[in-house]
Amino acid sequence: MKLRSATWFGGKDRDGFIHRSWMKNQGHPDHLFDGRPVIGICNTWSELTPCNGHFRELADHVKRGVYEAGGFPLEVPVMSLGETLMRPTTMLFRNLVSMDVEETIRANPIDGVILLAGCDKTTPALLMGAASCNLPSLMISGGPMLNGKFRGEDIGSGTAVWRFSEAVRSGAMDMCDFLDAESCQSRSAGHCMTMGTASTMASVVEALGIGLTTNAAIPAVDARRARLAHLAGSRIVEMVREDLRMSKILTRAAFENAIRVVGAIGGSTNAVIHLLAIAARIGVDLSLDDWDRCGRAVPCLVNLMPSGKYLMEDFYYAGGLPAVMRELGGLINGDALTVNGKTVGENVANAPCYNRDVIKPINDPLKTDSGLAVLRGNLCPDGAILKPSAATPSLMQHRGRAVVFETIEDFHARVDDPDLDVDESSILVLKNCGPRGYPGMPEVGNMALPKKLLQKGVTDMVRISDARMSGTAYGTVVLHVAPEAAVGGNLALVQSGDEIELDVATRRLHLDVSDAELDRRRANWSPARPPADRGYYRLYHDHVLQADRGADLDFLVGASGTEVARESH
Ligand code: FES
Repeated sequence: MKLRSATWFGGKDRDGFIHRSWMKNQGHPDHLFDGRPVIGICNTWSELTPCNGHFRELADHVKRGVYEAGGFPLEVPVMSLGETLMRPTTMLFRNLVSMDVEETIRANPIDGVILLAGCDKTTPALLMGAASCNLPSLMISGGPMLNGKFRGEDIGSGTAVWRFSEAVRSGAMDMCDFLDAESCQSRSAGHCMTMGTASTMASVVEALGIGLTTNAAIPAVDARRARLAHLAGSRIVEMVREDLRMSKILTRAAFENAIRVVGAIGGSTNAVIHLLAIAARIGVDLSLDDWDRCGRAVPCLVNLMPSGKYLMEDFYYAGGLPAVMRELGGLINGDALTVNGKTVGENVANAPCYNRDVIKPINDPLKTDSGLAVLRGNLCPDGAILKPSAATPSLMQHRGRAVVFETIEDFHARVDDPDLDVDESSILVLKNCGPRGYPGMPEVGNMALPKKLLQKGVTDMVRISDARMSGTAYGTVVLHVAPEAAVGGNLALVQSGDEIELDVATRRLHLDVSDAELDRRRANWSPARPPADRGYYRLYHDHVLQADRGADLDFLVGASGTEVARESH
């Protein structure tokens, strides 16, 4: 089989000279250009992405494996997305990174791809970009941090921040303790070690079969993570020889497995938007309704924060995702192929579980019915989602008076105002935080509760927005309302005092305002100006799809393959 890279390195002419000669300035000897598979290692290492800060070492382990199997590894930097630093939100740049990855792969002499991802958006961005090329590809997740340890207590990244900051606001924690907790939470390399978005997406990688078995949970600093990277390096060379492309693995069955796994692990709501986007790149017809349908009967088996009490390190020692997928039994499509050439069923058939308090048996789950609820109604004709396992059961059926915030700045300015007309039965509504409105759909949907209610001991309220929520957050939070306020969805028309009805059991979210009144309000509504006149912000604003379609850019949906383009000289 003639490989793509041979088009660059195989010629004995002027162009072949150019392609080989400049590469040799890095010390590569002649035999590496003899037609062996060239493996691109897309590396999202960055000192501004602390979760991926150890990726250079991880890439070295991949290279060892590639060389061992007779391949030629070449490490490629791609844009990185650090969740904790980037403004206005990493989600704005997920699609940009996917373009970087896609065009980097296609434009270069690459036959197979290793994708190194960790922090939240790096995983979907790399999968989306690679899917639009469809070469043999294998993802390695960077692994979670070790458990946070604070004064004898295990604390989870993100989840502890939300809890501690509310405690400071209510007066239950002093500032000294709050600042001390910073160093205790993040004490090793790796990504968030709660079942937040990074851990959820690492689990999705394994569930999809696009990562090796055990990929999800091995801590970043555990030597077994480096061993996995080495094995992945060897395996991708074989995948090139087998022509095992992404489209043979990312099938509908694989996406259904991933949806069910997200339910079983109590995973992040962000997985919804990312899986919709990845599926649309690889040509699998996945919809929001598939999330509700596939996830409905799935129990939550994994006792991890924010839904439970343990952390990713505990999850790995308990058996990790293979134990969960084995426990799911018939709920999983066992015939789905994975990157190691075996089916999911073969991979997990004998997976052991070492701790039944961390990974529950299916007949005694942590929570029953853990799938994500997809809501419909006049407030979200194209859908909205809610994570029942993170919600308060008594609020799952609720009718309340809207307290509306037009923007996140409006929210911050007024939420703690003692005169704010709000009580615990109110429903907080936040607008203009969707894909186009913010722009980039930030994780602000789990709005902090008004201080005066916190001080009364209120711990949860129904909250509705077109935003996303951090995977480490919790509460009765309706997210991803589509169409969003900024494109004129009915969310834009809600006014304080309107009655809203939420009924998760019947998947209903209803704004109790007549159509005639909504028409009257719509006549007075006009869209905001684009956030910029030029550049990527403008491109994003003009082309981003709504949340129910994965918030990809409309012109990026689908794939363009990896045909070798015309010569550059
Ligand atoms: Fe990077 Fe949480 S901030 S994974």
